[in-house]
Amino acid sequence: NATTDLDVVAGLLRDVPDFPTPGIRFWDLSALLADGAGLAATTRLLAEHDGPAPEIVVGIEARGFLLGAAVAHSLGLGVVAVRKKGKLPIVAASESYDLEYGSATLELPADVLRPGERALLVDDVLATGGTAAAACALVEGAGARVAAVSVVLELPALGGRERLDGRPVHALLTR
Ligand code: PRP
Repeated sequence: NATTDLDVVAGLLRDVPDFPTPGIRFWDLSALLADGAGLAATTRLLAEHDGPAPEIVVGIEARGFLLGAAVAHSLGLGVVAVRKKGKLPIVAASESYDLEYGSATLELPADVLRPGERALLVDDVLATGGTAAAACALVEGAGARVAAVSVVLELPALGGRERLDGRPVHALLTR
């Protein structure tokens, strides 16, 4: 049941102080992803959603790739990798954003999202929301729709949910 799955997930999360820069508390999913029961519980919980069923999954670099592929497979859907700048050969659009530490640009591959398609965005952590907001902008810029942003962990103090302007956020845990 959901309580058991959540307990499994919570028990395998680790936080690391001062990574990647001093003052940042980094949430590390390595142990969770490496655990078969942990990955299965995480995938089940992330795939739960209210509202109309998603038609495609979008995984955000890098841990969103692992989670997004698992969620997509569990739902019988395909997965799109939204990547950091310079990795994709054919790009639909780019979107720059500020991170809790530094800045970055995300890119959407060309010709993989259909107009009106309902996309479920998946990542590990929602912190300031810059990453997820940029991914939403890319998805919507391509004419698709954001069904929800699903993350393992939301850090509410950093305001990510507000930055997503009312798009549905599905967070398994908050810290
Ligand atoms: C982390 C995390 C999220 C993002 C959340 O990724 O995996 O994608 O930051 O932060 P935000 O809500 O403040 O934007 P990171 O930028 O470290 O990239 P990586 O996954 O490629 O290492």
